[in-house]
Amino acid sequence: MYRSQRLSLRYYTAAITLFGVMILFGLLSALYYVFPSMLFEVLNFSTSKILHIDTLVIWLLMAFLGAVYWYLPQELEHEVVGIRLAEATFWVFCAVVAVVAVVFLVVQIGDSTAFTLWFINQGRKYVEAPRWASIGVVVVMGVFAYNVVATCVKARRMTGVTWVLVLDLIPLLAVYMDAFPADENMSRDLYWWWWLVHMWVESTWEVLIGCIMAMVLMDVMGTSRRIVETWLYIEVMLVLGAGILGLGHHYFWIGTPEYWLSIGGFFSALEPLPLLGMVVHAVYDAGEHRLRTVNRPAFFWITTEAFLNFIGAGVWGFMMTLPQINLFSHGTQWTVSHGHFAFYGAYVCGVIAVFYVAKQKTSGVACLDDRFWKWGYGLLNIGMVGMVMGLLLAGITQAFYGRAIGGSTLMAFTQVSENPWFLSGIWARLLFGIVFAAGYVALVYDLLRKPRSNAVGAGEIAGAAT
Ligand code: HEM
Ligand code: HEM
Ligand SMILES: [Fe+2]
Repeated sequence: MYRSQRLSLRYYTAAITLFGVMILFGLLSALYYVFPSMLFEVLNFSTSKILHIDTLVIWLLMAFLGAVYWYLPQELEHEVVGIRLAEATFWVFCAVVAVVAVVFLVVQIGDSTAFTLWFINQGRKYVEAPRWASIGVVVVMGVFAYNVVATCVKARRMTGVTWVLVLDLIPLLAVYMDAFPADENMSRDLYWWWWLVHMWVESTWEVLIGCIMAMVLMDVMGTSRRIVETWLYIEVMLVLGAGILGLGHHYFWIGTPEYWLSIGGFFSALEPLPLLGMVVHAVYDAGEHRLRTVNRPAFFWITTEAFLNFIGAGVWGFMMTLPQINLFSHGTQWTVSHGHFAFYGAYVCGVIAVFYVAKQKTSGVACLDDRFWKWGYGLLNIGMVGMVMGLLLAGITQAFYGRAIGGSTLMAFTQVSENPWFLSGIWARLLFGIVFAAGYVALVYDLLRKPRSNAVGAGEIAGAAT
């Protein structure tokens, strides 16, 4: 095992821990909806939600860094250059996250001054961390980008997947610069903030997960490099073709010019296409190899990623991406339903597959499939789909009674928050959230336990991994 693969195990451990913290604050945020005066003057809803969504971004980033540190030396047959620096920045990263979380919990709110911006909260949704911490994240990401590029140069070897990966690092780092607010005009500020949020999740990260999917498929099914790389190029082309101008679907109602209605509507309506491509890719490979795999949990999670990425991001996003519909659905629990489904389908499922790849390699079994993994798989998926359906119900109720019938008044907004359809959706989120949390516990337990080698499976698979 390469030294950088040991580092990636550390990244995975940190990521999984933060995943747990994220779920705790998700459950807490959901409780506020049913008991609104809960923890009054102790912890407010916004802080709980900030901790929920910021840990989401950070744990996924950590898992991505881990996945790249895992696959890079394997692809290039060369240890990562600057591995010591990478190891040191890992601890810096963890320390920064811990300090920021404590400040969020203890201080929560500051005056509207530069001090608050630098030391308490930068005020940008998803990347609220204060400025000093954001600079820390830039340093960590900078070291990471340097390590990847320097390793490619030193190894004098490039594969198609590594090319895509390296080129993708440019926007990954560049759009993060957007985490620093620099404008007092709210429309202009939001305009640039969306570059970060949209370009990350609908372009850069999608390309990254495309690379990860390619590598997992090669690893667990022995799919040929020629096939996965051809698919990867097609997917990347489509993701960028539709995703960049698809940004316009966030520019409908924030004071930007009207032409964004047509640009955003048109291009974002095309965004499901690459995601459909990924489904076809995964199904094609699974069929070609007759579902034979050396790592059943990783195979199931990566195939689920392909399907739920398409449904959660593609279908759920498409539902409300035309301005005629978005006028009613904008910023309701409908959006939250899509946000959960898309993040989970596109990224959570993908990184869980990578965790299982690491589990198999570290435990040295020929074929990983000893059943218990199905508990985590089942509970997480049922929990998420239940939450998403509850939120969809709540969101449609808001759009229908609050916007279409109620005319978007404050009174209509307040009334709809007592509507029984809305409330049942909100309760469903809480209950299925608990199922999801149980799934997390089962997943962690399974990742940590020692697997039993499945000799029958291993024999059957022998041909598949070549
Ligand atoms: C136990 C499971 C979870 C519960 C109970 C939960 C609950 C919540 C709640 C109550 C909010 C605030 C919604 C609002 O502002 O109206 C929220 C926001 C959010 N959560 Fe979760 N969550 C859970 C798991 C997850 C997971 C696994 C992900 C990602 C994969 C996720 C991603 C998000 C995102 C992106 C938002 C912001 C959505 C928006 O403002 O539109 N959550 N969650
Ligand atoms: C993996 C890919 C995706 C992820 C993780 C994702 C996640 C999210 C999140 C978290 C939000 C809420 C943002 C906020 O206001 O805080 C959002 C909004 C939105 N997404 Fe996506 N999304 C993805 C792909 C897509 C696609 C492919 C489409 C269209 C086909 C789409 C259409 C939209 C629209 C229209 C909104 C604005 C909703 C509103 O008006 O409130 N998304 N997305
Ligand atoms: Fe978007």
